[in-house]
Amino acid sequence: MKNVASTVTLNNGVQMPQFGLGVWKAKEGSEVVEAVKAAIAAGYRSIDTAAVYGNEEGVGQAIRECGVPREELFITTKVWNSEQGYDTTLAAFDASLSKLGLDYVDLYLIHWPVKGKYKETWRALEKLYAEGRAKAIGVSNFHPHHLEDLLADAKVVPAVDQVELHPLLNQAELRSYCDSKNIYVEAWSPLMQGNLGHPVLTELAGRYGKSAAQVILRWHLQHNIIVIPKSVTPSRIKENADLFDFELTAEDMAKIDALNENKRFGADPDNFNF
Ligand SMILES: NC(=O)c1ccc[n+]([C@@H]2O[C@H](COP(=O)([O-])OP(=O)(O)OC[C@H]3O[C@@H](n4cnc5c(N)ncnc54)[C@H](OP(=O)(O)O)[C@@H]3O)[C@@H](O)[C@H]2O)c1
Repeated sequence: MKNVASTVTLNNGVQMPQFGLGVWKAKEGSEVVEAVKAAIAAGYRSIDTAAVYGNEEGVGQAIRECGVPREELFITTKVWNSEQGYDTTLAAFDASLSKLGLDYVDLYLIHWPVKGKYKETWRALEKLYAEGRAKAIGVSNFHPHHLEDLLADAKVVPAVDQVELHPLLNQAELRSYCDSKNIYVEAWSPLMQGNLGHPVLTELAGRYGKSAAQVILRWHLQHNIIVIPKSVTPSRIKENADLFDFELTAEDMAKIDALNENKRFGADPDNFNF
């Protein structure tokens, strides 16, 4: 990967930036508008939002005001759990597009694998994909067993599975499963929600003359994972994208791999109650 806008090729041929901005918890209004504009000014071309984040209107405003043509941007949003099902998902998609002020999204995801619902939801995503209103479709928080179940009936293989993934939860098994199915893995909470004080990361950061956040993000990129760190702080938005003047050695990659303790900061997709 050469720069902040460099893309990977999804299983349907769509080009997706490997790096982007996440906006969970970025408040609707000026906070999210300014964060997205700062990111685009720093070279970011991919923005990850969701209906449940409540900030699609601000993301849309920033897209319109940023000065970069819409077609050069890659916009992801997601259908929330309460809207899952065929007709309800189609309606939720229309609502998201209208809030964003767009006529298509680049990637539309099922946010969580709601039992008994996600297959109907997937049929709706397949329709949106066939109509060209979602250029790619995928899932989020799917374990391999959820994907196996979905794939048994799916016409379209998900392009992406967006899951919690960071040095303390490196998802080695899911990554190798997704590789075998040609599904790109995208990391949420790639920075462990700001818990960056691990001594191994501090040591590596000192050695490379980079921050712990930059070391972690570099580890994701070198593992060919799509990554969407969140920040609303302009200096951090820039810092998080400043990853292209160093490379972790194989030995240091292995050191970070060894930090895995299957620790989740968010819910387990087999046991969530929202
Ligand atoms: N699909 C899902 O279910 C799901 C779940 C969670 C998240 N996501 C997506 O993934 C994105 C990223 O995950 P996340 O927001 O949970 O967590 P994250 O990106 O791991 O961490 C964000 C936190 O780290 C801080 N931070 C960012 N850069 C930093 C730096 N360079 N130095 C120190 N602190 C830094 C941010 O603070 P400031 O903002 O105050 O700078 C914020 O508190 C979300 O925004 C969302 O788009 C998806």
